[in-house]
Amino acid sequence: MTPDLTARLGPLTLANPILTASGTFGYGREMASWGDLSRLGGIVPKTVTLAPRPGNAAPRTCETTAGLLNAIGLDNDGLDEFIAGKLPFLAAAGAPVIVSIAAKTPEECDPLAERLHSAPGVAALELNISCPNVSGGVDFGTDPRLCEKVVGRLRKKTTLPLAVKLSPNVTRIADIALAAEAAGADIITAVNTLYGLAVDWRRGISRVANGYAGFSGPAIKPVALRCVSQIFRAVKIPIIGVGGIASIDDVMEFIVAGASAVQIGTASFFRPRLVFELVDRLPDFLAKENIASLTELVGTLKL
Ligand SMILES: Cc1cc2nc3c(=O)[nH]c(=O)nc-3n(C[C@H](O)[C@H](O)[C@H](O)COP(=O)(O)O)c2cc1C
Repeated sequence: MTPDLTARLGPLTLANPILTASGTFGYGREMASWGDLSRLGGIVPKTVTLAPRPGNAAPRTCETTAGLLNAIGLDNDGLDEFIAGKLPFLAAAGAPVIVSIAAKTPEECDPLAERLHSAPGVAALELNISCPNVSGGVDFGTDPRLCEKVVGRLRKKTTLPLAVKLSPNVTRIADIALAAEAAGADIITAVNTLYGLAVDWRRGISRVANGYAGFSGPAIKPVALRCVSQIFRAVKIPIIGVGGIASIDDVMEFIVAGASAVQIGTASFFRPRLVFELVDRLPDFLAKENIASLTELVGTLKL
């Protein structure tokens, strides 16, 4: 039996469910020496904004127990440079490219969508409304009405498959997911980093220059799983699960909790080959477990 690895994400069908998480895999080129990019289910490059952003001051990261804090601040070279300098390599790499975008205002969605819609090699968009490290844009991920407004605006401008990436830093994540779905999102990506802080008590300062920062890595997996499960129970659209995944069993946990595909983030820093290993190992793993298709497992968790 050859297991069916296909990930069905509404209008987006991927050969397998293993994707890279935005901001942790560069623009593909930086990771190409670790494995064959074309074998990945999808590549999500670093979030792109309309104008270039220098990001936050250093130090921007700090390791913690089983996790990482970062406050990169959406450092990127802007949309023009992304389309001219980064997208051609990504598009030629052979895996579907899901372009992560962020907007400060709903109006900023228009040029982002228009330019990317017509750029060759874009398989889908992922709207990041959940970065904790920037002052503009994060409210879209914490207020259902604002979420609906920004997603609705983007939806009108593109027929590309549209994922909306949510923040776990809310009281009821299902409400935000429902708002994104109502506004026309095709997919929910859950979750971005948790809001955190690392303290250097001797100096009385944060270990990250920006102050508070986004917490990721294996330590956040239980929170991410809870979010995916709650979203699965609320919406009808498919979910991409992300948060702390570092093994094949982690992948299976997210699938059972309700994810139709997963993204690997922080684990790529300490195990750059992991995404490739997961793609290689999944068929045998599923065959041994007598699982014919991942789709049949999605959301089968009993609670
Ligand atoms: C250094 C770093 C940079 C990140 N940059 C982005 C980003 O630009 N856009 C985004 O949507 N998420 C970004 N994230 C969040 C990840 O994509 C992911 O949602 C989060 O880290 C949880 O997954 P993980 O525990 O597997 O890392 C970043 C995470 C890290 C660690």
